[in-house]
Amino acid sequence: MDLSPTHNQSVEELDKENIFHPFTQPKAHMATGPRIITGARGVHLEDNRGNQHIDALAGLWCVNVGYGRNEIVEAITEQAAKLPYYHSFASMGTEPGVFTADTVKRMAPGNMARVLFGCSGSDANDTQVKLVWYYNNLKGRPKKKKIISRDRAYHGVTVAAGSLTGLPPVHNAFDLPLPQVVRVRCPHFYHEAEVGESEAAFCDRLIAELEATIEREGADTIAAFIAEPVMGAGGVVVPPEGYLPRVQEVLRKNDILFIADEVICGFGRLGTDFGSQYFGIEPDMVSVAKGITSGYQPLSAVLVGEEVWNTILEDSEYLGVFGHGYTYTAHPIACAAANANLAIMEREGLTANSARIGETFQRRLRETFADHPWVGEVRGVGLIAAVELSADKATKRRFDPAAGIGKAFQSQALENGLIVRAMMNDAIAMSPPLILNEANIEEIIGKFSETLAALEPKMAAAKTA
Ligand SMILES: Cc1ncc(COP(=O)(O)O)c(C=O)c1O
Repeated sequence: MDLSPTHNQSVEELDKENIFHPFTQPKAHMATGPRIITGARGVHLEDNRGNQHIDALAGLWCVNVGYGRNEIVEAITEQAAKLPYYHSFASMGTEPGVFTADTVKRMAPGNMARVLFGCSGSDANDTQVKLVWYYNNLKGRPKKKKIISRDRAYHGVTVAAGSLTGLPPVHNAFDLPLPQVVRVRCPHFYHEAEVGESEAAFCDRLIAELEATIEREGADTIAAFIAEPVMGAGGVVVPPEGYLPRVQEVLRKNDILFIADEVICGFGRLGTDFGSQYFGIEPDMVSVAKGITSGYQPLSAVLVGEEVWNTILEDSEYLGVFGHGYTYTAHPIACAAANANLAIMEREGLTANSARIGETFQRRLRETFADHPWVGEVRGVGLIAAVELSADKATKRRFDPAAGIGKAFQSQALENGLIVRAMMNDAIAMSPPLILNEANIEEIIGKFSETLAALEPKMAAAKTA
């Protein structure tokens, strides 16, 4: 059998015949085909047609140090030559993972005791669910298993993590969510506040809802609450002032663990090492992925807090082996990439750059788009932002989803050399590499403005339809 690729077809045709694309409408893909990215440097990408794009999303919110970092490439190559693989089951280990765990633990919020590696943000959150169940079984509380998550949260797609996610496409026709997930309101002031309600009153209402939910379900049935400090895929939602510390207070009062999903916010995106530090919370458990390697290798981790770790440690005497982990847990090449990536972050002060340039990014987005007639809200902190398109600025009316305004914006932006992502409610999300500079910001603003102008006729038609 000849296994060399079929060269009498274009890569686009081969893609359409062979690849099952995630988060893609399969029929539409058969019509449009893929966009094949072939190279990248800094904050710019090149496709196989020779077009240049500025990557305002850093891949999928992950290429924090930017593309083309030889230092990471060399670390990967050296590790592959020296020891491409060894596992960490049964007390075995390799050097890179030990060093990654040590660095990440020192950067982390709260009192983190141990680091359990995985390969994706989804598997990290799946592990979180298993760990909090395990913990409560060890504590003799077999009923304490439910997990509170929020509408529009994104925690991944595997069975447990997908259940924590609060976005319909992740559940529809998949028989999700699992019954153990309890949902509370998304903390998005712009859409969720009542007419005339202040942000402080909105926050009070969210906290009252959380308390009422715990009361209704019974604190003895709830194991954990999970939250992204700033929601990403749900449309970039920054919570109201004081919300996360107040959530933490309620959870502590009710002996419920706080799991911070730092898969996007971790490693500098908000201008602090972790989002938890930005908002002043100390979670009990933390999930990380993406920025830990800037996407140069797949790697995630669950940071296990003192309380959970000590319980597991003590009870292991009679329970025996901890029966969880993956073939690729603490993969040495992925951890070597993480170590080189974190060294760049530190040496170049990229978290501080994210805070500094993030202020300019947020200011320029607001100056340019906040008063635009087709823009409902500009939001974000540090280097994560969204510009939400609106059919009616005064009433905050959304476009009919069938009009596909967000998706049309995303496609038009791609034609203009700008990569952004359309989220629910036609929010256009951005999360550029942390090496962003002023010229990059102006390039994003310019291409965003051109895209808005090109889309006006479509938005006008959708408004009156
Ligand atoms: C906050 C958050 N958690 C979890 C995930 C899932 O990560 P992965 O796609 O690596 O499974 C994502 C992915 O975007 C995310 O943004």
